[in-house]
Formats: sequence, C-alpha cells, structure tokens
Amino acid sequence: MNILSPSMLAADFGNLKAQLETIEKNGIEWLHVDVMDGIFVPSISFGMPVISSIRKQTKLFFDTHLMIMDPERYIDDFKKAGCDLLTVHAEACKDTADTLKKIKAAGMKAGVSLNPETDVKEALPFVEIADLVLVMSVHPGFGGQKFIPETLKKAEIIRREINKTNPGCRLEMDGGIGTANLKEVLAAGVDTVVAGTAVFGGNIDENVKAFKSML
Ligand code: DX5
Ligand code: ZN
Repeated sequence: MNILSPSMLAADFGNLKAQLETIEKNGIEWLHVDVMDGIFVPSISFGMPVISSIRKQTKLFFDTHLMIMDPERYIDDFKKAGCDLLTVHAEACKDTADTLKKIKAAGMKAGVSLNPETDVKEALPFVEIADLVLVMSVHPGFGGQKFIPETLKKAEIIRREINKTNPGCRLEMDGGIGTANLKEVLAAGVDTVVAGTAVFGGNIDENVKAFKSML
C-alpha cells in the first residue's frame, strides 16, 4: 500500500490542529515531522516540545525526519515526545547501524536517509536492518524546492535491494514532489511519498484528494 506522508514543515503552525484534522479526515495516517538543527542543515525548525504538543492533538503516525548531527544523542527524548519512526541521515551518524539498532530498542521504527549527492552505496548495507529508507530528492533544509530527477535512479537501486533482502522495508522519497511528478516517483519503486508545499499550500482538502487518487 502506498502512503502519503504530508510534511508538517509547510503547514500553518498557528492553525495546525485544524490542518491536521483536515488531512486525517481524508484518510491520511502519517505525518512527516522535519527536525532541523542549524548544523546538519542550514535551517532550524522545531524540536521535542512542539512534537509533544501535537502528539496530544492527533493519532497520526509521526514519521520523524531528523536532519540533525549525531541523532543518537536524542533517541529517548524523541520517543518520550511521541515519535513512532525516526529517520536519521547516514551522513550525520557516527555509527549508522548502531543508531538504527538503538532506535528499535527504544520501541520505534528506524529509517535511514541519504542526501542527493551521497552515493547510493552508502545506504545499501542498512537496507536489511532498516524499516524505511528515505531518498532525498532535494537538498535537505527547506521546503518548496525543485525536485532533482537524478535521484530517481537511486530509488530504483534501493527498491531492488529492498525486494532482495528486506521486502517489508518502506522506500520513501522527500522533496519537490507534487501530482505532476508523482507518477515517476511511484514508478521508481517509492511506496511512501512526502509532500509539504503540494499538500499544505492552497486547498488542503483538494490537494490530499488529488494525491490519493493517484497513489
Ligand atoms: C526538506 C524536508 C522536506 C520538505 C518537503 O528538507 O525534509 O520534508 O518539507 O517539502 P516540499 O514537499 O515542499 O519539497
Ligand atoms: Zn523531510
């Protein structure tokens, strides 16, 4: 089953409760939660207090994308805040396999992500132990960027590896995705689609319906 994971980064934070209700009403089950530290990426977004607050408002599955250095430092804090899945960047971990193991031991699903310029080979050893692999289709740090089509090849390679070694693992793509390029993203083997601007920009209700009709 394909999943749409709307990225909260593009939501109106002053109106978050109503916006989350709108996506839930349309059958959305995941929320992509982008955490940025100003070091791994240039921007700073939000952290545990915000996640804890929205946890009280919604039952959505928190698909947490950690764009932070040394994420292993905060595994327990994100668990306490109510996260269901933590995706870490291989580029930001001292020991990626160990970090994934610790996330699972803390009772969450574990994902690994690669920046657009990182070689796909950096992710392949973790496919077997990960619950999700996230292929970035923009340079992480900001919403609303242009999709980098070269990253589709990377998704295809990871899809083959998933089918071979760990068919239960999800393949997620994030950045610059909308209904105009969704078809090619799915054709590359992606089953979990992140979209920020294309969901929260404009009429959320119509946007989600348009995505869902194509998934
Ligand atoms: C980028 C974030 C993305 C972003 C996607 O650093 O990881 O999740 O919010 O936003 P759009 O869909 O607008 O590219
Ligand atoms: Zn993200």
